[in-house]
Amino acid sequence: MTVVHTGIGELVTNDPAVGDGSPLGLLHDAALVVDGDRVAWVGPVARAPAADHRVDHGGDAVVPGFVDSHAHLVFAGERSAEFAARASGRRYTAGGIRTTVAATRAASDETLTAGVAGLARELLAAGVTTFETKSGYGLTVDDERRALEIAGRFTPEITYLGAHVVPAEYADRRADYVDLVRGPMLDACAPHARWVDVFCEAGAFDVDEARAVLEAGRDRGLGMRVHAGQLGQGEGVRLAVDLGAAAVDHCTYLSDDDVEALAAGPTVATLLPGVEFSTRTAWADGRRLLDAGATVALATDCNPGSSYTSNIAFCLALAVRHQGLTPGEALHAATAGGAAALRRPDVGSLVPGARADLVRLAAPSFVHLAYRPGVPLVREVWRGGVPSE
Ligand code: NIG
Ligand code: FE
Repeated sequence: MTVVHTGIGELVTNDPAVGDGSPLGLLHDAALVVDGDRVAWVGPVARAPAADHRVDHGGDAVVPGFVDSHAHLVFAGERSAEFAARASGRRYTAGGIRTTVAATRAASDETLTAGVAGLARELLAAGVTTFETKSGYGLTVDDERRALEIAGRFTPEITYLGAHVVPAEYADRRADYVDLVRGPMLDACAPHARWVDVFCEAGAFDVDEARAVLEAGRDRGLGMRVHAGQLGQGEGVRLAVDLGAAAVDHCTYLSDDDVEALAAGPTVATLLPGVEFSTRTAWADGRRLLDAGATVALATDCNPGSSYTSNIAFCLALAVRHQGLTPGEALHAATAGGAAALRRPDVGSLVPGARADLVRLAAPSFVHLAYRPGVPLVREVWRGGVPSE
């Protein structure tokens, strides 16, 4: 079945070969034909081919479905008291993760599944058509494996994060915990994951521990991603680039060498401004990364500790106001950038052959995503050509 989407006042394709020649590949008065779950044709409305069905967008802007390349959705409980305490001057530390680990271990499969389902619904309503999610709040072999199994019911982009923090019961035996993460826990988790991730930061894992876990995951066929530069500069960014990781996420604190390495290599730098909002740290300098030539993604990092938002448009507005991105760069980072971070050439752009994941905005231009912060502008979402209810 074919569907022609017409009356698109402004279409963001992310194909620099079409339209205005910018990375956004902007077309005005555009149409787009979907065949099954794929985009079949994009061009001016006047030249649109016939199709079995027609959808009229009434002059609204249409953008690619957002690709949220970093989230932690499998958890129980919440940490609003910790958030409120930060308003009175308490600092964010990695230690808060253990609060969520205790709640998650105690929760039933049904509770965890319902939690992920609720957040997946929120993401879709916010226009996110592809999302990644991680384990990391179980930190036992069984709890990590169960988190990944639950995540797999909702997305193929599943990340094993046994190296989130050292759990309390291993506090005096951290080398044993690293051996568990890269040994028996990896054996149990690798069949359920596409990616391996490590939180490489003071208070979590140092660069040698991170390298050991990432290399073990890589040797089991997992792609690599890294959390680094969230709380201070460290060696995690260089490690990610040296290992050829798909992405290094947070990038709030970067040395000049880090920026140079990111600009030279294929590792995507992911901005997570929801974290900086919630934890009251400095803002990552997205401008510096883009000016250096790095590929930048923008993601929610939805989790109960450092960024409890599923609204990627909110993150986009923060990136424009606080991280030095233009509205176009922020949209590109939250779509094509996220796709690059997940090594998914089939999503994040609206070009022939891509998945037909598109978002109709209640606005004449994508700029409204940052210009009207906090306003729910997602009017309709199609995933694989199918409208969500
Ligand atoms: O990406 N940085 C490490 N992990 C999460 C925070 C998890 C938490 O505080 O519960 C993050 O920000
Ligand atoms: Fe994270």
